[in-house]
Amino acid sequence: MMQLFPSTYFTYKNKQLYCEGVAVTQIVKQTGTPTYIYSKKYFEDASKEFDEAFRAVRHKIFYAAKSNFNLSVIKTFIELGSGVDVNSEGELYRALKAGAKPEKIILTSVGKTKNEIKLGLERDVLMIKAESEEEVYLINEIASSMNKIARVAIRVNPDVNPKTHPYISTGLSENKFGVDSETALKLFRKQKELKNILFTGIDMHIGSQITTLSPFVEAVEKLANLFLILKKEGLELIHFDIGGGIGIQYNDEKTFSVNKFAEALLPIVKKLNCEIIFEPGRYLTANAGILVTEVLYTKKNQHKNFLVVDAAMTDLLRPSIYGAYHHVQPVKLDESRSEIIADVVGPVCESGDFLAKERTIQKCEHGDLLAVMSAGAYGMVMASNYNARRKPAEILVTGNSFSIIRARETFEHLVFDEENYL
Ligand code: LLP
Repeated sequence: MMQLFPSTYFTYKNKQLYCEGVAVTQIVKQTGTPTYIYSKKYFEDASKEFDEAFRAVRHKIFYAAKSNFNLSVIKTFIELGSGVDVNSEGELYRALKAGAKPEKIILTSVGKTKNEIKLGLERDVLMIKAESEEEVYLINEIASSMNKIARVAIRVNPDVNPKTHPYISTGLSENKFGVDSETALKLFRKQKELKNILFTGIDMHIGSQITTLSPFVEAVEKLANLFLILKKEGLELIHFDIGGGIGIQYNDEKTFSVNKFAEALLPIVKKLNCEIIFEPGRYLTANAGILVTEVLYTKKNQHKNFLVVDAAMTDLLRPSIYGAYHHVQPVKLDESRSEIIADVVGPVCESGDFLAKERTIQKCEHGDLLAVMSAGAYGMVMASNYNARRKPAEILVTGNSFSIIRARETFEHLVFDEENYL
């Protein structure tokens, strides 16, 4: 039987899908498809819930902008009191444009360019997270040439298995991220020699879409030990950064609540007596968003039914790249229709271009609208222009009204960087 994704932000009223108080059909009448729609209330509730769960310790949330870097989305989190975790010069640019204060920005990335480090120092961001020995020395050198003291955290790879998709697992020793504990200790112990660095934190991020607590507990315990060793030796770090990675429900996976997350970690981090930092992305955004697409054709061969829709891997890459599951459901329910099992596929010239496989769904017709659920994180940010497709529009719903927060790309936009060279 056709399953509908459980959500209090995307619900059916009179068999029509709504985002908060606005009918999805009303939005796409104006914007066309494919279009991303986000619920502002979801952003607010998730952010408050996270904050509340950790009220027993001094903590700060740095929203991981990579999960959804639309300026209005970043701005929403800034207004909710969050800082921003940025992974590149481009995300730094976006965060500043959205109104983030540099002292509430963390600069991440396993491969920062000299320019990115310089920019971070020029802007005076809260801290730069170093991910290798060479990077620590380079930050020291650049800071020295700028007559600055760089606030630096070291990202430690705790070598735990986050039990998630291999592409989004980052905390195993075989992964490219961070440095091992011994190297971290060695670097922290060079504090006196590194005249233009002030070590302010220890950091981890072990992966994404993690649905069990044990990898977090194991990793936080390991890093807390390091933190306490350093403290004994006289190096007082002021931040302990747990990163992001909390898994959310896409299908029927069992996840943990943010309260359970806090319950598991609070006893460990309380002992550190420092500020605890989090960098959640997906938790705050994934189930805040849907991608709405129109059925272009229905077809059938000896093996399968296909729903050919106007959204593609260029709009939502996750199914193609990770085999990720996203619920797909009709915008208008019609119980009089029978159900079929179908693949939902896009117009791009690749067999890897699919949004869903073998789903039970009500029979569709040309022109029907479908909602691809849980698309608020790593959706639009991973969109591309392959096949010279224009990136979709983005909409933010607030209560009974909605606003366009990114217009659909134009054809002029597609050739903007090239036409002067013709
Ligand atoms: N902090 C760091 C250093 C990160 O690398 C990431 C995500 C986060 C925080 C936020 O993690 P989250 O809370 O969202 O799990 N494109 C993939 C996800 C890649 C995650 C990369 N890093 C996907 O679509 O599943």
